Amino acid sequence: MALAIIYSRASSGITAPLVTVEAHLSFGMAGFFIVGLPEAAVKESRDRVRSALLNTHFEFPSKRITINLAPADLPKEGGRFDLPIALGILAASGQIPVESLETYEFTGELALSGELRPVRGILPVVLSSWQSGRQLIVPFHNSDEAALVQQAKVLSAKHLLEVCAHLKGDQLLTSCMRHDSESQLENALDIADVKGQVQAKRALEVAAAGQHSLLYLGPPGTGKTMLASRLPGILPDLTEQQALEVAAVASVSSQGFNPGTWKKIPFRSPHHTSSSVALVGGGRPPRPGEISLAHHGVLFLDELPEFHRHVLECMREPLESGSITISRAAIQMSFPAFFQLIATMNPCPCGYAGSKSESCQCSNEQIKRYLGKISGPLLDRIDMHVEVTRLPPEFLIQANQHEAETSATVRERVILSREVQKQRQGKLNSVLTVPELDHYGKVDADAERLLTHAVVKFNLSARAYHRIVKVSRTIADLEGSAVIKAIHLGEALNYRCLDRSRIMI
Ligand SMILES: Nc1ncnc2c1ncn2[C@@H]1O[C@H](COP(=O)(O)OP(=O)(O)OP(=O)(O)O)[C@@H](O)[C@H]1O
Ligand SMILES: [Mg+2]
Repeated sequence: MALAIIYSRASSGITAPLVTVEAHLSFGMAGFFIVGLPEAAVKESRDRVRSALLNTHFEFPSKRITINLAPADLPKEGGRFDLPIALGILAASGQIPVESLETYEFTGELALSGELRPVRGILPVVLSSWQSGRQLIVPFHNSDEAALVQQAKVLSAKHLLEVCAHLKGDQLLTSCMRHDSESQLENALDIADVKGQVQAKRALEVAAAGQHSLLYLGPPGTGKTMLASRLPGILPDLTEQQALEVAAVASVSSQGFNPGTWKKIPFRSPHHTSSSVALVGGGRPPRPGEISLAHHGVLFLDELPEFHRHVLECMREPLESGSITISRAAIQMSFPAFFQLIATMNPCPCGYAGSKSESCQCSNEQIKRYLGKISGPLLDRIDMHVEVTRLPPEFLIQANQHEAETSATVRERVILSREVQKQRQGKLNSVLTVPELDHYGKVDADAERLLTHAVVKFNLSARAYHRIVKVSRTIADLEGSAVIKAIHLGEALNYRCLDRSRIMI
């Protein structure tokens, strides 16, 4: 048999398309050629495979070896095809049996000694090979990640020789085992640590219940960052499906997937010097950015006006669509980016505008310019803007922490209200479409009057209007009220401090 066919997988966004590795040995001048759009690292696999075969005492055929990676128009990167290429040569030269090869898929980089090295993006490979019905063999160092899809029964090996022994039936490989980590709450920061700030805490609860985006505004040192970093602690656990999606994004990112973070709600807080590629993704090959790494979790932008304006503008579209498509000349890739945005900022350059205890040194013009760093369309996409005021000193000194609500208590209410939303409309309030909102966001007569008055007074855009109704829907759900009353709407309007300040400046 001078031809062997081995199945493997490429990496494309968070998918793993099938790649057929064809190995052909023919007469003619000895040589080793890889065709089928291989990138530099794949071309280098010639040297790795050759050394690995020689160092494991296999024969390296002195024939003309042609490896074809099909389909040819799919870009192939990394050392992931080393193992399938080596096995293809061994099968084509009759050194391992070919009969069972079609029931397997292989991926793994080879060290010169024949040891298997881990590859990036294993999770999408596991999911795709499981759907195809073939059994996957991966490097041992990828086994924690591969074990996440429990139904898949992936095999792992440390060395090329182990894979060959398995294929010959001499010594079978074992399945990867999954080790689940502890629950979300154990490491989360507790909201009880924040003294006072009742309104800001309540806003955090509302935001968590309806998955609304939230911006905290206030003078320095009032606890904005502290509050925002406590959001994951009051969110419900990820479902198995959500956790797999989160892990799949991490798996293809430049950091790779860390099994210790399995089922943890993503909390990403990129620094304000981040570039647009770091925030929304990109590069060659395109990798997911912070917004995708925050998929099903929280994206925390501390000191929002310090971010470059064009970087923030890149988020406008994914904030609404829940995904990002990166287009380059040769390639187009989509990554999921369904995240909850939480941000903080000072109200002016000195930080004390509107403060009762300190006088603000900034002119109206300076304040306008500072607020202008965040574009209107972006602000319009933020459901809630909440003022965090400075605590009176007696609060800081005396507040009795035994009376403060813990994250666990708040989380129970959040979970309950999310259940109500899911049962009523099958999704959370923040993602209701306009027709759905018309149907589920019914307001009573008093609330309607209040809403009409607010639209005129604050000159609200249609988007701002819908967002206010969504937030008031969540407030009504937290209270267990089927209809939105004026009190719910009043509270939601209270969480729009920038709409109010716009008419004051
Ligand atoms: N409500 C509070 N309860 C307990 N500690 C607080 C509170 N507010 C502030 N602190 C203390 O002040 C520190 C600074 O708080 P934090 O970083 O959250 O302020 P900030 O509002 O984000 O300020 P800045 O605008 O300068 O970023 C906290 O680490 C904490 O020690
Ligand atoms: Mg801060």
